[in-house]
Amino acid sequence: MSSDSVSSAIRQNLSQGSMIRRMFEAGIELKKKFGNDAVCDFSLGNPDLAPPVQAAQAMQALTDKLSTPGILGYMPNAGFAWAREQLAAWLSTQQNTHLEARHVMLGCGAAGVMNAFFHTVLEPGDEVLAIAPFFGEYRFYVSNHGGCLKTIPCRLSDFAPDAEAIDKAISQRTRALIINSPNNPTGAVYSEKILREIASVLDHASRRTGRTVYLISDEPYRFLTYDGINVPPALPLYRNTVVTSSFAKNYGLAGERVGYIVINPAIDDAETLMDGLIFSNRVLGYVNPPVVGQYLMSGCLGSPTDHAVNIYTRRRDRLATILSDAGYSFTLPQGSFYFFPKAPGGDDKVFTEHLAQFLVLAVPSSGFGMPGFFRLSFAVDDAVIERSEEGFRNAIKRFQ
Ligand SMILES: Cc1ncc(COP(=O)(O)O)c(C=O)c1O
Repeated sequence: MSSDSVSSAIRQNLSQGSMIRRMFEAGIELKKKFGNDAVCDFSLGNPDLAPPVQAAQAMQALTDKLSTPGILGYMPNAGFAWAREQLAAWLSTQQNTHLEARHVMLGCGAAGVMNAFFHTVLEPGDEVLAIAPFFGEYRFYVSNHGGCLKTIPCRLSDFAPDAEAIDKAISQRTRALIINSPNNPTGAVYSEKILREIASVLDHASRRTGRTVYLISDEPYRFLTYDGINVPPALPLYRNTVVTSSFAKNYGLAGERVGYIVINPAIDDAETLMDGLIFSNRVLGYVNPPVVGQYLMSGCLGSPTDHAVNIYTRRRDRLATILSDAGYSFTLPQGSFYFFPKAPGGDDKVFTEHLAQFLVLAVPSSGFGMPGFFRLSFAVDDAVIERSEEGFRNAIKRFQ
């Protein structure tokens, strides 16, 4: 008898599983068998650097106040007023837009605020567009709220979005487009030119369909670019833009779940949209962003990220040498901490399973909506990169 303990949708999702999760579990098995130090695990985008020293100072300041009544109590659903103000001031320079506290809502990570956004704006059956390959969780963030994710392949030459293809994909049901730069999984950074092209397409689409078509610029890797490349701010380029992000990757606070959404002040019906977001943050059960996370954010905000960038640059360059010496074909990442090489032999699942036999774990690109590649996260210790050289070299031989 089939159990009805979970809904059919959840059952289906459980049976498909996440490729990242599956690699994670395969990794645990391999580590048990061969020992932790033998396995080179490039599957998870979990920042492995310590938070900046300012985080320790902020923690200490909070600890000193812990006997204050209500210090860890509920707060307004959008976050502490002081945290919203501080964040708005910092984002004003980042996004080259004058922002006030009322344009910013704090939430539980970029993931939490994206869910709050879709809960707020989607009608049942609405479509949300994303550029493939994409962060696989987007599919759930959209379907959680009655929407449907529709994907558009990127340009293979540089992994950038194709404005013309976006235009063609827009329908009467299109409510939003998600872009992600620096990109997970490709490492691409989108130019201002392409952002302007997208803005123009969405502007025309909003007029044509008579509905606001939002641009969601998901930017948790904004701080992490290489070779002096800048990430152009998306917020000022199109009126109906929202930016989602967090302090997971830049300040190593991923587990502390503090993130934010910021709206363009000129967005359609800004006040109602923000009220809706705050309501959704509450009723989805997040209630408010974490107290400790906001103190940590406040302490770290504006602290330099060069130290992290230097470490990731060193790792990127070393892994690039290993991969190209072994004969892999890839585009050097401009940002984030991922490589997205072509799968030798063309089948990403076959190749990643083969690579695992050499104790190197990677994620097949089918999980990101684009078969034929594999993703390597270099949020790993330098020693793991060094150790992987032999495995990469041996694994490709069968396909040469
Ligand atoms: C592209 C992208 N967006 C959103 C998230 C979610 O970030 P957070 O941990 O802040 O919820 C991630 C996490 O890996 C990501 O890679």
